[in-house]
Amino acid sequence: MENLNFYNFIESSFFEDKEIVDNLKSSPQKKINSKHLYDENGSKLFEMITNLDDYYPTRSELEILDQKNVFKKNLPEKASIIEFGSGSNKKVRKLLEALSNPKEYIPIDISYEFLKTNAKELAKKFPKIKVKAICADFNKLGSLQNIIEHKSKNLGFFPGSTIGNFCPDDAKKLLKKFAKILGKNNYLVIGIDIRKDKKIMEKAYNDSEGITAEFNKNILKGINKKTGAKFDANSFEHLAYFNDKKKRIEMHLISKENQTVNVSNKKIKFEKGETIHTENSYKYSEKEFKELCNSSGYDVIDFVTDKNKYFGVFFLKVERI
Ligand code: SAH
Ligand code: AVI
Repeated sequence: MENLNFYNFIESSFFEDKEIVDNLKSSPQKKINSKHLYDENGSKLFEMITNLDDYYPTRSELEILDQKNVFKKNLPEKASIIEFGSGSNKKVRKLLEALSNPKEYIPIDISYEFLKTNAKELAKKFPKIKVKAICADFNKLGSLQNIIEHKSKNLGFFPGSTIGNFCPDDAKKLLKKFAKILGKNNYLVIGIDIRKDKKIMEKAYNDSEGITAEFNKNILKGINKKTGAKFDANSFEHLAYFNDKKKRIEMHLISKENQTVNVSNKKIKFEKGETIHTENSYKYSEKEFKELCNSSGYDVIDFVTDKNKYFGVFFLKVERI
């Protein structure tokens, strides 16, 4: 396709394997970085989650993104749109339709096959927009200067409350990195999940169809593929709950039995009932997140919620880098 370029910035895996082993050995809490949830199957499972009745975030954010006038009012024309963690591109389509003459779209995602398939589809649907798909860990991106169209206004898009998967200190570091990539006086549109009734939040991560449980366990299959480990995903159970003190949903996998798993030639021992912490999903108030944005170098130009006030979208401008 003429309007599609593909770049792969994923590096070889020695350091990645070491980080996986170190996190699995970390005491008192074993961990796996949540980015490993997204291999091809993980991305498909996540997409299924977004369509579940119990998972309110996607539905709520799409309701906000349907308010086309909010985009026109706040955002520049002829922009280069850079999406961090682009997934299925479902949300950016609304943005591309609402903006005036968007010039190019740069989806960045760690999930190689899923990115490729979805970028192709998007390029076909929007033949006038140049699509430059980048497979990379957005935390490890230095700059996109060689890729972004010069002279255009940059508009970062970070929906889905993916920022909630980082603890506030790391979220601040990431937002600062994005500010550098985007440049001063450019824009970032970012979605956050607003703290609400605990029952509603916990149900979203314990859906009645068991898809989130499957998504969580799939992380072990991904680790097997990446490192040659031999995790039996069925010997672990899904656990997700709201941690009141830390204001976050935590996802864990509980070992059903005493077991030892070989990962990159290191023996990792599990006791029955011991957990691996696989994901955090922080839930913010408007005020808390506004402060985080301000301290990361952004001015808040607008904030929009859905009618239930379950989800919020911030319109930010890079004020300092
Ligand atoms: N933006 C979409 C998808 C959100 S899911 C939506 O709102 O529905 C999070 C997405 O970020 C996934 O597609 C996942 O593959 C990607 N992702 C997670 N961690 C990443 C990282 N460190 N670098 C790049 N992409 C990442
Ligand atoms: C991508 N991320 C914001 C989702 C979330 O809600 O934290 C991932 C997810 N985990 C379980 N369900 C969905």
